[in-house]
Amino acid sequence: MLLLTFFLIQSNIIWISPVDGNIPFPKDMNIHVLFPPIIQTHESIPLGHLRPLGWQRRADGPILEDSLNIEPARFYHLFVQGNRSVVIRGIVSALDVLWTDSYLSKRYGHLNVTVAKRKQRLVDTLTMMPFKTFLEQYRQDDLYMNTIIPDEMKFEASLPSLITCGIFSKRLLEPILWISAGDTASLLYAHAQNTLHCVLDGRKDFIIYDTSNKYPHELDLVKQSNGDLFSRIDVDLVNTYKHKYLHSLPWYWTTLYDGDCLFIPAYKFFQVRAHGRTIALSIDMAPPDIRNDFIGLDCERNPPIYISLDKGQFQWRYEHGVRHLTKRIITSDDARTYLLLLLGANDQLHKDIFQNFYIQATHELASKDLGLPTANHIWKQLNNDTTNEDYMTRNQITSLPSNVLQLLGDVLQKSARIHEYEKSEL
Ligand SMILES: *[C@@H]1O[C@H](CO)[C@@H](O)[C@H](O)[C@H]1NC(C)=O
Ligand SMILES: *[C@@H]1O[C@H](CO)[C@@H](O)[C@H](O)[C@H]1NC(C)=O
Ligand SMILES: *[C@@H]1O[C@H](CO)[C@@H](O)[C@H](O)[C@H]1NC(C)=O
Repeated sequence: MLLLTFFLIQSNIIWISPVDGNIPFPKDMNIHVLFPPIIQTHESIPLGHLRPLGWQRRADGPILEDSLNIEPARFYHLFVQGNRSVVIRGIVSALDVLWTDSYLSKRYGHLNVTVAKRKQRLVDTLTMMPFKTFLEQYRQDDLYMNTIIPDEMKFEASLPSLITCGIFSKRLLEPILWISAGDTASLLYAHAQNTLHCVLDGRKDFIIYDTSNKYPHELDLVKQSNGDLFSRIDVDLVNTYKHKYLHSLPWYWTTLYDGDCLFIPAYKFFQVRAHGRTIALSIDMAPPDIRNDFIGLDCERNPPIYISLDKGQFQWRYEHGVRHLTKRIITSDDARTYLLLLLGANDQLHKDIFQNFYIQATHELASKDLGLPTANHIWKQLNNDTTNEDYMTRNQITSLPSNVLQLLGDVLQKSARIHEYEKSEL
């Protein structure tokens, strides 16, 4: 068995050792699990010591639910502006019947996908492999798939109409497909983006913590280059002597089944456990500036509940298993839009966030064209304010002249079209 290893941005250089020699052990596929847990106290040990996350305090309640027919304006006001999670059931099509392993393998097995392996709990190592290989292994090996869904598969998946108009439609970043088997637990995590997490098959249990400040040091956090945060807490065996904070931190829960989605606002801490065979689609959206009101002139009155996923205009797409910008023509206005999406709901765009974006968008071209401007070089052109070299303000971005933006736009366009150039060179 040959597994190729790739350098993927945002991760370490990695190697997944082939599992030859190990006897494959099918995972426990039971989905009937008690959640939230019934908490028992023991006199001598702190609540939930060496138990999974969630056992340290009784749940404060279920996450709010709203109706299938929720309108985009209501969703915006109550949950996006309101910074609250919400569950909406039945808002995407369940794919348990269509997307069997054998169907996926036959139809899409040749496509390269990104697969993660949980290693010593914290470092999830990423690798690329044909979808078929993943499907042969995931029921026994410690692998799960998290990949931008390949274009070829999009027309079979669905996108809730709720986020296809108004302020939402231009802020769609990427649809990530997750596939796992058996009980898998995520780290305690906070995304820098708003996320709509939808279960297409199986069951997922979510914990959402209600932290009052933006950077709760008590959670022992690590910041990633894209702005996401994760906690070093061992989610299967919590040391409550070290993490006493969890006794006082309110949390809310939900369980999602086929067709259900959970909205998680940026910087909410959540943890998820998947049971059985799970397929999920998580849609990342750049958080809007919530001082703006909702404008939804293009929102239909009675839209279908969902449309085909290929109708969504996402910033990123996958080609041969690698992230590319979707747009093929990138003007100076588009370059400004990318910067504003990176800014999200914040008032300052920090250099490291820009760098991360630039490297993701250009790394394939950069490996072939050594003369390509570096992120640092472009940043210096964009940000001529010598009093703050590390960030740009919203005002600075909106008033950038087009000739400066064009420098960025040209590099991004060349990167996005890298495969067209290759073909025309032949
Ligand atoms: C939303 O709430 C989280 C904490 O629950 C906080 O960290 C974040 O800054 C809040 N976001 C906004 C836009 O207020
Ligand atoms: C998958 O990746 C391998 C290794 O880079 C490559 O040879 C192959 O052509 C890719 N397959 C597809 C369908 O992109
Ligand atoms: C920075 O650039 C802006 C336009 O992009 C210009 O108006 C301003 O004068 C420049 N400032 C300096 C210090 O060069």
